[in-house]
Amino acid sequence: MTQDELKQSVAQAACKEVLERMPAGQLLGVGTGSTANWFIDLLAPQRQHFAGVVSSSLASTERLLKLGFTVYDANQLPELFSSELLPLPIYVDGADEINPQGHMIKGGGAALTREKIIASMAKQFICICDASKQVAVLGQFPLPIEVIPLAESAVTKALQAWGGRAVLRMIKSGKAAGQPLLTDNGAWILDVHGLQITNPAQLENELNQIAGVISVGLFAQRKADLLLLGSETQVERITFN
Ligand code: 5RP
Repeated sequence: MTQDELKQSVAQAACKEVLERMPAGQLLGVGTGSTANWFIDLLAPQRQHFAGVVSSSLASTERLLKLGFTVYDANQLPELFSSELLPLPIYVDGADEINPQGHMIKGGGAALTREKIIASMAKQFICICDASKQVAVLGQFPLPIEVIPLAESAVTKALQAWGGRAVLRMIKSGKAAGQPLLTDNGAWILDVHGLQITNPAQLENELNQIAGVISVGLFAQRKADLLLLGSETQVERITFN
């Protein structure tokens, strides 16, 4: 199977999972990236099962709207649905790396801040990945950090204390090639190389304290509850405590 076919098979498994676990008329949180895109496309025929969806990026919102989903802004939820602290039963998203505890690196698609916000509103995080994303220790994939542009240089320097080498993410093609990539929030992304992340929750906490950091692509405080992992032979279902 190609990597794309593996992504498609975990997305299909995630559709089954949410349809079985969520009664009709509830809200679903939807992530960003190529695996999440498969999930959106495969779920589209069942969109009426849901009261609506809440999306973690402009790209996913656009895709969801094109396919006829009702998309709500996170700020609308308290007034339209409930003032529950966790109004979404489930959030489904991919990851760039996931360790045996369910801690993840995310943000390869530059959507980490909104992903963190929507994930924080969900009771359950279902991570959908192909087997190449499973690692023993996080950090081989450069850790994305969203920063206020003014703080780029200061944050880059501060990261050296953790042994990290930060590289500003640039637009790779098109008219704006060579310019810093702008997130949906109008900010920049630093990709931090060289980190061996043995204590993800502690590092997430520490990096969040650097002035100018908007959010860190470590999902350890809010890790995955369930991993659907696509390999050549099966989609494995792994739960985390
Ligand atoms: C976007 C993300 C994605 O979930 C992550 O990059 C995985 O993407 P893909 O499914 O395309 O491999 O965090 O910000």
